[in-house]
Amino acid sequence: MITATETRLPRIKTALPGTKAKEVIAYDAKFMSPSLTRDYPLVAERASGAIVEDPDGNAFLDFAAGIAVCSTGHCHPQVVAAIQKQAAEMIHIAGTDFYHRHMPEFAEKLVSTMPKSEKWKVFFGNSGTEAVEGAIKLARYHTKRDKLIAFYGCFHGRTLGSLSLTASKSTQRKNFGTLLGGVEHIPYPYAYRCPLGHTKETCGAETIELLEQQIFKRLFAPEEVAAIIVEPVQGEGGFIPAPLFFLQELQRICNKHGIMLIMDEVQAGMGRTGKWWASDHAGIAPDILLTAKGIASGMPVAAFIAKESVMNWKVGSHGTTYGGNPVCLAAASATFDLIEGGLMANAEKVGNYIFGKISDWPNRFKIVGDVRGKGLMIGVEIVRDQRTKERAADLRDAVVDNAFHRGLLTLGSGENSIRMSPPLIIDEEQADAAIRIMEESIREAEKKA
Ligand SMILES: Cc1ncc(COP(=O)(O)O)c(C=O)c1O
Repeated sequence: MITATETRLPRIKTALPGTKAKEVIAYDAKFMSPSLTRDYPLVAERASGAIVEDPDGNAFLDFAAGIAVCSTGHCHPQVVAAIQKQAAEMIHIAGTDFYHRHMPEFAEKLVSTMPKSEKWKVFFGNSGTEAVEGAIKLARYHTKRDKLIAFYGCFHGRTLGSLSLTASKSTQRKNFGTLLGGVEHIPYPYAYRCPLGHTKETCGAETIELLEQQIFKRLFAPEEVAAIIVEPVQGEGGFIPAPLFFLQELQRICNKHGIMLIMDEVQAGMGRTGKWWASDHAGIAPDILLTAKGIASGMPVAAFIAKESVMNWKVGSHGTTYGGNPVCLAAASATFDLIEGGLMANAEKVGNYIFGKISDWPNRFKIVGDVRGKGLMIGVEIVRDQRTKERAADLRDAVVDNAFHRGLLTLGSGENSIRMSPPLIIDEEQADAAIRIMEESIREAEKKA
């Protein structure tokens, strides 16, 4: 049997799924909720570094990383050691009721990533959606306003508050009844499909105008708006970066009207784009910043970080049983040190290396419409025709499936895009292997176009 630690590159030795994997899939079908979205039949048995091994001994190069979660790779020895040590000392003590040093210690690390012009406070939760819920509550509490503005294509979670902000796929909202009132969605600056033909630098000017000239004048007065929430790079929506000027304009508008700017960095943050936060590239300071996913290498941790002047709610206004769990924060702290100690720089370096090799895919492959992203947040949009930009979800699915059969794990995103979000530890040899597999997979899918 191949062990995950013995190889750094994919090795496929059975038909997929293999015999043992098929057993797990049949078992899962008996007991698990049918709502889970499995793009292809990967059964993970164990994992190490950037490699996931299935029960039949096949080794896959992981360019999905548990939806951008396993930032330090799978089972990084420093993360494992931190979890083991903490588990032997104290597993849980509710941070809502009692004190323990792990919370302020990790909060201080998070705050060190934020602009020094402000003081910041932190609240810990367990998942991205919880951070979003907390941020909605804090924004409403602080501003004493209730209206919220979000963007088409953005994903903020699946609990009822965050789902009200999510506008990614209608299936995610269908049949769940009336959601939060007072939420308005406006277009996200999607440069590849910019209706006015703007570029990656300038797309979104019309959305800013829509906000100021239409929404604020015809729907809600700005003094009714509690928050604008935005992903600096849309994750689930297709790995679409917002132009930097656009984020700066949102900050200007929010500052002007006392609206909270909530930056949802759940997927784009924690060093993945080469800076701690994707919004750092725009040099802005949101009022509330949300993080989860890559923060603790797979242990459930989320946080929202808010200006001290904003996080001024009273005792009892918000709390949690598990948020700030010591074992999870031990993993988060070790993850933070690894990201700061080199992985963030590696994300930038290997990201640049990959973009250097794939940016010309639209010239080389007729079904690739766009290649975009930053660092190790890499999006590829698949189209039927480059001139009409007709979305080709079937061809996208074919590319993802072809890659799986060659030993590369990626994920679909948006209607017709592929996301590659490897662990931040990957090197150029692994990047080359992924590029080669993707090119073969695209070429194979092109035969169906
Ligand atoms: C930007 C963003 N916000 C929030 C969430 C919700 O996170 P979770 O699934 O941990 O609740 C996600 C999950 O994909 C996300 O990508």
